[in-house]
Amino acid sequence: MKEGARISTIPTRDDGRPTRRDVLAAGLGGLGLTALGVAGLASKQLVPQPLVYDLSAPAPPVAALAPTPACADQPATDRAEEGPFYAPNTPLKRDFRRPAHHGRELVLRGRVLDVRCRPIPGAVIDLWQTDEDALYDNVDYGYRGHQFTGPGGEFDVSTVFPKGYAILGMVRSPHIHVKAQGAKTKLLTTQIFFPEDAEGHARDPLFNPRLVVDLRQTASGPPVATFDFVLEDA
Ligand SMILES: [Fe+2]
Repeated sequence: MKEGARISTIPTRDDGRPTRRDVLAAGLGGLGLTALGVAGLASKQLVPQPLVYDLSAPAPPVAALAPTPACADQPATDRAEEGPFYAPNTPLKRDFRRPAHHGRELVLRGRVLDVRCRPIPGAVIDLWQTDEDALYDNVDYGYRGHQFTGPGGEFDVSTVFPKGYAILGMVRSPHIHVKAQGAKTKLLTTQIFFPEDAEGHARDPLFNPRLVVDLRQTASGPPVATFDFVLEDA
């Protein structure tokens, strides 16, 4: 299939892109906010704000991170909130970088595995993230795209580090949203985090230490983040 083609490979709530009210209703439900709060906010633009920590408040204690769990050490990858910025029908794309970006480049790679730790070739993996300015592109699929895993279940994305943000009073440490599904698996919706933002982790109520990538510096290229997704059988 041609790069840039748009297909619908992941079950979605609607046939087309959701309205802002749909997005708000879906996303805020996941954030545990009340229907009253949704009604009050639906007429306003929901835009993530670049994250500025309130340094006047003491940060919660930061726990040491455990190594990223291996496939054999977990029943399946933990799920996480979809959040309010998911968009269906993303383009087939594995290079998210904008030509004139000013972000810090990153390669994300890994495998999609079944619960027996066998690679799933042809699984779809759909990713979306904020850009280097902490913004989601809800118009042109910037920093959004899907791809199909290779014969070894492998995928890779060239991108930039996402920026954390604050929204509706909630601090979000930098993360990348992921949906993944194989032909014989359930759909996994989750988020992955980065090991270098411990203060953000401590302040982010959705942070999960089991969803932290393994991040390695490289001699000549951008840092490489690795994460394997383990999908439950359908
Ligand atoms: Fe997000």
